[in-house]
Amino acid sequence: MPRNGSRPAAKARRLTVAILSRNPRLHSTRRLVEASRALGHRVRVLDTLHCNMVLARARPSLFYQGEEVGPVDVVIPRIGASITSYGLAVVNQFDMMGVPVLNDALAIARARDKLRALQLLSRYGLDIPRTAMCRFRDEVAQVVEHVGGLPCIIKLIQGTQGVGVMIASTMDEVQGMLDTFWDLGQEILLQEFVAESKGRDLRALVIGDRVVAAMRRQARTGEFRSNIHRGGKARAVTLTREYTEAAVKAARVIGLEVAGVDMLESRGGPKIMEVNSSPGFEGLERATKKDIARLYVEHAVEMARFRQAVQFNS
Ligand SMILES: Nc1ncnc2c1ncn2[C@@H]1O[C@H](COP(=O)(O)OP(=O)(O)OP(=O)(O)O)[C@@H](O)[C@H]1O
Ligand SMILES: [Mg+2]
Repeated sequence: MPRNGSRPAAKARRLTVAILSRNPRLHSTRRLVEASRALGHRVRVLDTLHCNMVLARARPSLFYQGEEVGPVDVVIPRIGASITSYGLAVVNQFDMMGVPVLNDALAIARARDKLRALQLLSRYGLDIPRTAMCRFRDEVAQVVEHVGGLPCIIKLIQGTQGVGVMIASTMDEVQGMLDTFWDLGQEILLQEFVAESKGRDLRALVIGDRVVAAMRRQARTGEFRSNIHRGGKARAVTLTREYTEAAVKAARVIGLEVAGVDMLESRGGPKIMEVNSSPGFEGLERATKKDIARLYVEHAVEMARFRQAVQFNS
């Protein structure tokens, strides 16, 4: 991993950046293309699902639109949740071909599995909203006590954009919600409701070992979920050292070079809710007016140059 100060000098050469994305028109993809060009690099957007992998003895390769993908210096994966498994295989294929990837497949997989991510974060000393899981009706009451009693949060493991995040104020509500989700074959988490965060959360974007931008999202009145898709409003913030350190450590624990870390502001300090491995940054660029795409690509380029310098020297 490149670290400031220990970076070997490498001759600046124009690089080829590949962006794995299902849609070149998505804001974050478009901005990464623009930033790569502005920094003087060649850039290709590869539709992840059209990357055909060929596995053969000692020579992993990848074909796109009928042609073998030529030398690529660094890959920026933007893997949506719906294609996680194929996407991870493509990221791994590049890795096998010796191409640096930002982020690697193992880290993306850890972040995607919300429960696994919370297990790791809490195990390594980060605070999270107390979280519990169970599978049987008659054990629910006990588990609700473990997360601090009522009201409590119920979350679908697969949820996104606030869909599948609910608050239950009575045991009947908890039972009703769980029965419904279990009948639909969905796994759920029970979570402590962090009331003092008052419908607010923080999003920190970690690139390498620093927070490059952060915003606070505030839910609309009467709503506890601060998702922009549910009417939440975002404002740029400068994080305190405690919050910055928590965000950077969360990214490290999951193994992500680039991560969108979501935190609740609790009485006891930051509680990490989630770590996103392909964070969109439209809202963050708008709120902070920072050129996040550039910082993202600069980091990818730094990784590629570091890898090349190490290979050259060994
Ligand atoms: N334990 C909690 N206590 C208080 N508020 C919470 C808690 N968990 C979630 N929230 C609120 O609900 C919002 C949505 O929750 P969360 O981010 O876990 O789900 P999501 O946005 O649907 O998933 P994803 O972030 O993966 O898209 C949070 O941004 C936060 O405002
Ligand atoms: Mg969220």
